[in-house]
Amino acid sequence: MNIVVIGAGYVGLVTGCCLAEAGNRVICVDSDLKKIKALEAGHLPFYEPQLGDLLTIQRDSGRLIFEVSIEDAVEKADIVFLAVGTPANEDGSADLKNLLNCAKDLARVITSDCIVVVKSTVPVGTGEYIEKILNQSSERADRSDRKIRIRIASNPEFLAEGRAVQDFRHPDRIVIGAADPQCFAILEELYEPFDYDGQRLIFMDVRSAEFAKYACNSMLAARISMINELSGLAGALGAEISSICQVLEADPRIGGSYLHPGVGYGGSCLPKDLSALIYSAKRMGEPADMLRSIQRVNLSQRDRLLDAIREHFMGDLSSKKIAVWGLSFKPGTNDVRAAPSLTLIRDLVEDGACVHAYDPVAQQTANAALAETEVGFGKAAMDVCKDADALVVMTEWDEFKRPDFNVIKRQMRGNMIFDSRALYRPETLRKYGLKHYRLGQKRVIESELEEETKAGRPFHARSTRETSKEKHPG
Ligand SMILES: NC(=O)c1ccc[n+]([C@@H]2O[C@H](COP(=O)([O-])OP(=O)(O)OC[C@H]3O[C@@H](n4cnc5c(N)ncnc54)[C@H](O)[C@@H]3O)[C@@H](O)[C@H]2O)c1
Repeated sequence: MNIVVIGAGYVGLVTGCCLAEAGNRVICVDSDLKKIKALEAGHLPFYEPQLGDLLTIQRDSGRLIFEVSIEDAVEKADIVFLAVGTPANEDGSADLKNLLNCAKDLARVITSDCIVVVKSTVPVGTGEYIEKILNQSSERADRSDRKIRIRIASNPEFLAEGRAVQDFRHPDRIVIGAADPQCFAILEELYEPFDYDGQRLIFMDVRSAEFAKYACNSMLAARISMINELSGLAGALGAEISSICQVLEADPRIGGSYLHPGVGYGGSCLPKDLSALIYSAKRMGEPADMLRSIQRVNLSQRDRLLDAIREHFMGDLSSKKIAVWGLSFKPGTNDVRAAPSLTLIRDLVEDGACVHAYDPVAQQTANAALAETEVGFGKAAMDVCKDADALVVMTEWDEFKRPDFNVIKRQMRGNMIFDSRALYRPETLRKYGLKHYRLGQKRVIESELEEETKAGRPFHARSTRETSKEKHPG
């Protein structure tokens, strides 16, 4: 088939490359000329495992080409995918500016029947709105004077950065929302090579498909916030969350994925998608209490980490040198959109700390995102530890999982590691003379426990967060 993919970002480029690999002729369009030039030269504009080789092979085969102009691209298109970004507006709603501009451009230039497929994550009802835009000028006729018909479909994307190619090639599910049988049939044929066991395709109406994407991200975010809340509570009550996770994982009704306590979710999807769904709920008069709580718990994880660092330095971070390992919102990507590391670095610098950061692939993107913040970057993980008063680990890259603790100890001035991803064991670090903090660690003070038990009262551990705030207001 002749495919056009508009938006050559994390989603659009993977879609374009994988559809070309399946034998289609694909044109990837992006308004960013620099990006298109880089892609034409075979350079990936962002870090994504496996995508570089796939890009080169498909480009060299001639099945994948790049364009800046929508008009030049869509002339022979059977299907046009819209994969442009839908970031959050200030009020939490999805910014559809780019998407709607594409729709208006397409309405001007499409000259034959085709299907426009929205792959971007969009609020429920967007597809119907785009269909109206596309068919507004449907008085136009094709070369044989036949009125042209542009159909709309929703095909939300579920790939995860860091394993995007693998996810696209072997999807868990392919969701197709449309209103007419011909649309379903064409998209079923397109996706046949990816429906490896005949069980991947799920058909529904457009609105349900749009909502399905938000529903999935809400469930994932809920698991993350739930395990983070349980972890904080477990620590406060003197229980060990890693043992509790083993118990949770053993329950087939719960399962083991997304059960790793940490600093909370970030990235280009979960934060903005939760905000957009909450915004939609508000418009419809729905309370969305759970969604709001998920968001609140997520943000409070970052505060907990910052509070712990402040408390360690007794509220005075001025002239403290803090090393930060990991900038991307998760391993396997250089994406730093809504990354917790950026918020933390900004807060530390505002408190007067001197921050030196290292990330194996995300330094350039972080540098751009932190343009207003004074932060240094090192060439290697151990470089940034030199004379550091503390090390904060923010992303669970493999190279941070088994570092040489002897070298860390030698390099650092202080001995504290804030392990926001629970990578290390305190007893291991202790052997090297290093101290360990992780979110949700046990906070029970044995003597208090004994006293309360003797008095026959249920034990309530004191909150170190409250203690820290009392000591260091503001
Ligand atoms: N990144 C992910 O992991 C992921 C996963 C699933 C779904 N999504 C959704 O997919 C969509 C795209 O996300 P992304 O991360 O690939 O975004 P991105 O920012 O990486 O890429 C978007 C691309 O669109 C281009 N663009 C913007 N306006 C354009 C226009 N008018 N014409 C042509 N090109 C234009 C930009 O230059 C950019 O290259 C979003 O709605 C996102 O929520 C993303």
